Amino acid sequence: MNTPNTSPLLFQPHRLGSIELRNRAVLSPMTRVSANSDGTVTSQTAEYYRIFAAGGFAAVITEGSFIDTAHSQTYLHQAGMATAEHVAAWRQVTDAVHSEGGALIAQLQHSGPQGQGNVHAEGVHGPSAVRARGEQLAMYRGHGPYPIPAALSVQDLAKVRDAFAASALRAREAGFDGVEIHGANGYLLDAFLTDYLNRRTDGYGGSPENRVRLAVEVAAAVRQEVGPDFTVGMRISQGKVSDLFHKWSGGVVEAATIFTALADTGLDYLHTTEYIASAPAFPEEDSRSLARLAREYAPNLSIIANGSIDTGHQAQDLLHNGTADAVAIGKAALANRDWPLRVARGQHIEPAFSPRAFGDLATVQGWELDATSLINSAVN
Ligand SMILES: Cc1cc2nc3c(=O)[nH]c(=O)nc-3n(C[C@H](O)[C@H](O)[C@H](O)COP(=O)(O)O)c2cc1C
Repeated sequence: MNTPNTSPLLFQPHRLGSIELRNRAVLSPMTRVSANSDGTVTSQTAEYYRIFAAGGFAAVITEGSFIDTAHSQTYLHQAGMATAEHVAAWRQVTDAVHSEGGALIAQLQHSGPQGQGNVHAEGVHGPSAVRARGEQLAMYRGHGPYPIPAALSVQDLAKVRDAFAASALRAREAGFDGVEIHGANGYLLDAFLTDYLNRRTDGYGGSPENRVRLAVEVAAAVRQEVGPDFTVGMRISQGKVSDLFHKWSGGVVEAATIFTALADTGLDYLHTTEYIASAPAFPEEDSRSLARLAREYAPNLSIIANGSIDTGHQAQDLLHNGTADAVAIGKAALANRDWPLRVARGQHIEPAFSPRAFGDLATVQGWELDATSLINSAVN
């Protein structure tokens, strides 16, 4: 696959909150489950992310990292942003990425109902006592159905907001340039958004306005904690790890409610992820993609689009037609850690689904990865 033409816009800077992106290509967040068992990252983590910055990515978004020592951890050996030890360990990563001129954004994650490995607490939490669909991810050491979550009380939700805010502050202390609140893929905030997981009858359930309320409150709490000069974004999806093809039942109207509510929270950007970034989000209604809907209903925010953007041409289209300000590259970046440099030079791009993409990941983890299941997990 060749990408002879490069997009001028792809290589123009963009201001993402307080980060001056040197181009429009960012590394998509990708779980690596290679931290120590206490969640501290290692020198290998630093070297791993340094390589993407050296390869030209303007910003690296880290793997989803748990936010507290309660119920937020999702996977064993997941990275954490929950303790002073985590902060100290992340410093080597922020230094490494900065040494290559890249920016580093920490993705902050609360497992919600999709928890399958937590050294801090028993059981999982969610909006209601409704089990996530599907089975736990075997590649992340899980097996069997997800547990039935305990429904969070309104008092518990205050703790969740505080935990996200405190975790964001830790990221700032560790030298990160920003945080991305994980509001996607079936984890806690997305579970609240999801009609069949959220059966609440209080102000956090029922209408889309209510189901997005926790995400709105978390965004505002994080912004308040970190102050104005630190980039804060949120990732949003329809699909989930446990339900890849879920669609918002309210279609465009629901998307409008969600994005309009999030636009007003102090976020700098929204990061939408779909299997194909440019595909219509609600094909029965119209041709707009989820990123395009975010752009239209949150016009004051930067938009990062993600999903099967494997070539320079695909990135160029989304940037030039005004859908997105930046693109997040996932599996194609694993196969081409210098994807931006390759695109700029018109060099060969390895296909995103090449097993080569996962070779180093398996080595780093020190255990056999089933490449097929990993490759099939387009969403996480
Ligand atoms: C191995 C792997 C781990 C992932 N971990 C995360 C994660 O921690 N947080 C997240 O939001 N998305 C995660 N994802 C999803 C990717 O960020 C991205 O959305 C997905 O791969 C689709 O983009 P792509 O077509 O460019 O690969 C993961 C994907 C893969 C393949």
